[in-house]
Amino acid sequence: MGARHAHREAMTGSEPEGGLNSAWFADFVRDFLERLSFNKTCHGMSGRRALPLGISTMPKSLLIPNRRVFLGAFGAALFTTRGLFAEQLLLPTPAMTEGPFYPDKLPLDRDNDLIIISDSTTPAVGEITHLTGRVLNANGTPVKDATVEIWQCDANAVYLHTRDSGPKADQQDKHFQGFGHFTTGAAGEYRFRTIKPVPYPGRPAPHIHFKVKKGGRDLLTSQFMVRGHEGNLRDGVFSGVRDLIDRELVVADFIPVKDSKIGEYRCHFDIILGRTPNEG
Ligand SMILES: [Fe+2]
Repeated sequence: MGARHAHREAMTGSEPEGGLNSAWFADFVRDFLERLSFNKTCHGMSGRRALPLGISTMPKSLLIPNRRVFLGAFGAALFTTRGLFAEQLLLPTPAMTEGPFYPDKLPLDRDNDLIIISDSTTPAVGEITHLTGRVLNANGTPVKDATVEIWQCDANAVYLHTRDSGPKADQQDKHFQGFGHFTTGAAGEYRFRTIKPVPYPGRPAPHIHFKVKKGGRDLLTSQFMVRGHEGNLRDGVFSGVRDLIDRELVVADFIPVKDSKIGEYRCHFDIILGRTPNEG
């Protein structure tokens, strides 16, 4: 019996059928949270298993869940086995609404630099963000030849969609590309240069929409928010995610780039497929 195996048995007392997997880990975390006292104040739950949603009385650290909060709660000993730690973070990214503004007419320039359109010399307005991430399947294998599309409103809160940019033509930042795509290589990595998302009327939580396609199939449509943004809990889409773990899986850190003279950010967001049959 390897150290990893022994460690797991000591932790759980039994071996999950088929070995460790992310679904098992998600259940484990939920069970752990339920054993805490938070769930005494649950309200407004529907559908899924009861989770601690009494956010009005919940410790602040759980109001905007952070993966570190969960991991910290288990203690370092649980994750001393390197492979175990890595494997168990692969909780599938939840699907979320596409929203009304997937571009109705894709731009001519749809590369992965949303800051500069074609050979323009004028960049988009906004806080430049270097967005990176990987597309992985649930067991951690990089997904090659997956096309990641992103779209978001410009710094003036206008989407590249005639229903939005039509009425707001004067407001639109004509130098923001609004949409981009990138096809992953063997490492499953994607990268974009875009702006840090901003709120817009009806959506207090800034977010970047994304869609993953492969072989002509849509595998996942979702969006991610800015971790810790004050608008998140007032946002209907974000607060509609009732499961605390799912909420954790649709937020990303926007970290200031050290010594950047123009206030750039970096953001890393891994997309984990496998939640729905479509994502095969
Ligand atoms: Fe949106």
